[in-house]
Amino acid sequence: MSSRTPIRSIFENKTLGENFTVKGWIRSVRKSKKFSFIVINDGTCQWNLQAIVDMDTPNYEQVSSLLLDSAISMTGTLVESRGKQPVEMQAKSVEIISATDDTYPLQKKATSLEFLREQAHLRARTQTFGAVFRVRHALAMATHKFFSDKGFYYLNSPIISAVDGEGAGEMFKVSTMDLAKVPVKEGKADHTDDYFGKEVSLCVTGQLEGECYAMALGSIYTFGPTFRAENSNTTRHLSEFWMIEPEVAFADLEEIADLAADYIKYLIDYALKECPHELEFLATREGAPEGLLEMLSHVKDSKFIRITYTEAVEILSKSGKKFEFPCTWGAELQTEHERFLTEEHFKLPVIVTDYPKEFKAFYMKQNDDGKTVRAMDVLVPGIGEIIGGSQREDNLEKLEARMDHDGMDKSGYWWYMDLRRYGSVPHAGFGLGFERAIMYITGMSNIRDVIPFPRTPKNCDF
Ligand code: 4AD
Ligand code: MG
Repeated sequence: MSSRTPIRSIFENKTLGENFTVKGWIRSVRKSKKFSFIVINDGTCQWNLQAIVDMDTPNYEQVSSLLLDSAISMTGTLVESRGKQPVEMQAKSVEIISATDDTYPLQKKATSLEFLREQAHLRARTQTFGAVFRVRHALAMATHKFFSDKGFYYLNSPIISAVDGEGAGEMFKVSTMDLAKVPVKEGKADHTDDYFGKEVSLCVTGQLEGECYAMALGSIYTFGPTFRAENSNTTRHLSEFWMIEPEVAFADLEEIADLAADYIKYLIDYALKECPHELEFLATREGAPEGLLEMLSHVKDSKFIRITYTEAVEILSKSGKKFEFPCTWGAELQTEHERFLTEEHFKLPVIVTDYPKEFKAFYMKQNDDGKTVRAMDVLVPGIGEIIGGSQREDNLEKLEARMDHDGMDKSGYWWYMDLRRYGSVPHAGFGLGFERAIMYITGMSNIRDVIPFPRTPKNCDF
């Protein structure tokens, strides 16, 4: 195979008069009498390259009748463009690598996001999804750079886990037992002869294992897939999503809240610098939130608001706004409440802290008031909760009391409790939902459109 020049580098260097070979997929063909315009994209950047193919090119007839997403290789020289694009190619030869026919499911128009979800294997070839997934890559790189530069170690926490790290019971079981013949003991599935000899599940978090390593390496972060069998069919929930979970020894909630704000700002800044063309495209696409780029620039330079849960409830009850769910102290904040706070009241990201313990996880540090825990949620406009975190309960007695109160079987958590027995220190961490962060920065409104192959209740194609 002859080498190819990425379209990205052609546009970055714009060396007129030079010879190039580009390979990619056809975005459009416009045929006129003496020549045709062929526009291709090779996935390396948001830009398409336009080429002029003259009618004396040997395979002109075949080439000029190619359909969308046919694959071609073109060789030619770079010339100044007569049209809108900065440069274009004067093609000397075009090789057809493979031609699509009229059964190709994606056509130039009428490709709604809903339709494209059914064509998830092809949708990355559209401009919108190309942009989203290049931004996704940039945000992953930004994550590693942000934490690594701060001295955090990247930890690969396990995917298969013997404990419920959130204590919420929303786990996918992992088993090799024949589902038609599951042995039953005392009314429950008996896993004695199962692969692991006990009941295990896909992880809902890497936090508990992350805490073990924070107690040794000081600061760690995980970045991996997370599985939740919650039956939430919303635009913000996936059954399989990616989470970044930093965990810091000797840190309290304030420090981790600062870290969370710095991290989000860093992600925005990185995306604006690395993917300006993608973000410009996404900001002007049909259905994009108004003023996406202005919002991102604004947030990048703003201080995040900090309020306690108690203050949040006060603001909500004094707001005079009619909510579907009433907001009283002790009740969970619903998405409508979260969005009111961040979108209407403050118009900025908001960090809410010190929630009632009843609806927060067992591992969170208990406040002296006996009612609240050192939890935080970071809320952003358009999304609601993007980060959940807390200072951890480092006192063994208090942790055990809470686990007993929640009716948890402590036996599987012996190693987690050991952290409180040996060299226990104050520590804190959080989890950022990677897809929610991508939604926030790209302005995409459905979480299914920012992960390559979404898994949601009753949906696991591809
Ligand atoms: O608030 P969550 O459940 O917190 C934890 O899992 C903690 N163990 C984190 C920690 O302290 N280390 O989840 C964290 C974030 C949420 O704020 C949200 O952004 C995302 O993960 N998230 C989901 N994203 C997509 N689909 C789902 N079903 C999600 N559930 C949570
Ligand atoms: Mg949460």
